Amino acid sequence: MNLSPPRGTRDFYPEDMRLRTWLFGHFREVARLFGFQEYDAPVVESAELYVRKAGEEIVDQLYTFQDKSNRDLALRPEMTPSLARMVLQKGGALGLPIKWFSLPQCWRYERMTRGRRREHFQWNLDIFGVTDVTAEAELLAALVTLFQRLGLGAGDIAIRLSNRRLLQAVLADAGVADTLFAPVCVLIDKLEKIPRETVEAELQNLGVDSGVIDRVLQVASCTSLHEAQGLVGSGDNGLDEIQRLMDLGAAYGFADWLRFDPSLVRGLAYYTGTVFEAFATRGELRAICGGGRYDRLLSTFGGKDVAACGFGFGDAVIVELLKDQGLLPDLPAAVDDVVFAFSEELREPAMQVTRSLRAAGRSVDLILEAGKRMKSAFRHADGAGAARLVLLAPEEWARGVVKVRDLVSGEEHEVTPEELAS
Ligand code: HAM
Repeated sequence: MNLSPPRGTRDFYPEDMRLRTWLFGHFREVARLFGFQEYDAPVVESAELYVRKAGEEIVDQLYTFQDKSNRDLALRPEMTPSLARMVLQKGGALGLPIKWFSLPQCWRYERMTRGRRREHFQWNLDIFGVTDVTAEAELLAALVTLFQRLGLGAGDIAIRLSNRRLLQAVLADAGVADTLFAPVCVLIDKLEKIPRETVEAELQNLGVDSGVIDRVLQVASCTSLHEAQGLVGSGDNGLDEIQRLMDLGAAYGFADWLRFDPSLVRGLAYYTGTVFEAFATRGELRAICGGGRYDRLLSTFGGKDVAACGFGFGDAVIVELLKDQGLLPDLPAAVDDVVFAFSEELREPAMQVTRSLRAAGRSVDLILEAGKRMKSAFRHADGAGAARLVLLAPEEWARGVVKVRDLVSGEEHEVTPEELAS
């Protein structure tokens, strides 16, 4: 039998789990600092929740199956549709706005590259019920706070920022019907990954003049808001929102992390306004996180639209980056005390000592195997990362004391069990 986990998935041995818990601790703490409430949903959802016809990669990557009642189900590839479903289900009973976060495991049948796998955990922060870019500003402030807590600065990370309304204005100008906006966005996003001729052919399949790409690429190559303004003119093109978001970023103190990048579209169909992705400024890693505004997702599920924006931040690329930068913490196993009974007669007293230490809030590893020698007790304490070794030996126990060895200083003392716990 092959003992590896399925390709693209991970086992988490205790040392891996310590790292994951450390990272999730930062995710949770930043969400708390920004007043986001945690929620969760099932990892298995109805497949129809993800059936969107815009040609997104994420739909082709779905893990789908039928249950024993022939229901078509899927492992969630992302959290946003579940969140939208939950918001719709509550309807007017939810007092908007809401700021919610989650840490779901997501499944995508991906082509594997460094930092991209078939399951990942994704920190999601979303805000529903705010139409203004103050919501995006709050999300970006949280994102930057997370980076800073991990030891990364504006020189290490760039947050590429654009607004889909810019592309929408270019497409409208070229006579592309509004109904084709989402699939055209998905195609344009592929320009970085597949040959231009393929994208052009697919645009033609949609009934869109392939020459539209020239205009899109011209706007995408702008390096400043001013230049973009010159090309598309004034009107509803999202540039004012980008400017305001940058101003809010300056007020909050994260403007130097932002880069206006009109070539950013993102590959998910539902975004309607601001889009952003964070990248490492050095190296070849893929996006660390991505998100944007999706004000019209709820109506695609048959509900009334509510303004929404958010982002997803995976656990894989960031760990690769922290590894490259030497920023991964050393996280050894750690318990406060290891308790060792020299003889089997002392096992019951050792259990009582252990119990009182635990009741006092100390983490204690009681050596369970019988007949161990002193040397192996030391080895055990070392492996457990213990601060102290507590020894119950017949002669000392008869005098009502135990031996405590401080494993850092090497000092040894005799104390009563009561003193030990206090
Ligand atoms: P996404 O860009 O598909 O957006 O994914 C967001 C982040 O999840 C990526 O930037 C990356 O960190 C991580 N990620 C995605 N796929 C993989 C993979 N195969 N392996 C490792 N990490 C991965 C979304 O999922 C949106 N639902 C985010 C969002 C939330 N938008 C609004 N709210």
